[in-house]
Amino acid sequence: MGLIKNRSEIELMRESCSIVAQVLKHITGFIEPGVTTEKLDKVIEDFIISKGGIPAFKGYGGSRKVKPYPASACISVNEEVVHGIPGEKVLNEGDIVSIDVGVKKNGYFGDSAKTYKVGKVSQKKETLMKVTEESLFLGIGQAVDGNELNDIASAIQSHCEGHGFGVVRALVGHGIGKNLHEEPAVPNYFVPNNRFRLRQGMVIAIEPMINYGTYEVKTLKDGWTIVTADGEPSAHFEHTILITDTKPEILTL
Ligand code: MF3
Ligand code: CO
Repeated sequence: MGLIKNRSEIELMRESCSIVAQVLKHITGFIEPGVTTEKLDKVIEDFIISKGGIPAFKGYGGSRKVKPYPASACISVNEEVVHGIPGEKVLNEGDIVSIDVGVKKNGYFGDSAKTYKVGKVSQKKETLMKVTEESLFLGIGQAVDGNELNDIASAIQSHCEGHGFGVVRALVGHGIGKNLHEEPAVPNYFVPNNRFRLRQGMVIAIEPMINYGTYEVKTLKDGWTIVTADGEPSAHFEHTILITDTKPEILTL
């Protein structure tokens, strides 16, 4: 679909995004040592459906080699970067868990993610989470009409690399609307020769995936779960935002 959304499309996106925001708030009360990731997924799915939404990730993608995504949320623990599949895994005190949720309603999508603490976590994980979330907001601060995608990327990258953290290259943010993933790709690292310019009315999902160590990642045998190559923890924060001629509007807040 077109890069620029009109007023009525934006209204519909507001609604999908609002459900996503409510899910990420609602799930906070369920994150505790002993809970399984499939339990969290069930709570998320039920909540989305109760609001008249459709879990956007369920059945997404797939190929001859990889099954379509089987759950409503992506739940990624510690060294899992993104796309962790909910299952029997139990959360333990000291874990960090990234929960990524997409909702479709009235034909339009919303997408947001957040990393949560399970009980008390190490100073190392605490800092990783804090810096990653800060970098998302620094990136959002650059997302105004007339700026380039590279302005967002540079803001995220310089903040995270300044703390010695790795900015994942293998996955990026994206435009969003009638599809979960639309043009443009929204990298979290500077891309030479990318002159893409942001314009009022564009809606994009910015989603830094930041590793404590190396930025390199690998995919597990399930075909979905992305983990850090060095086994160090990773954090992920994402918002869907509307570009305006002044401050961006965060639709998933
Ligand atoms: N939230 C992810 C993104 O922002 C999408 C998850 S992939 C899926 O791109 F298969 F789980 F949907
Ligand atoms: Co996304």
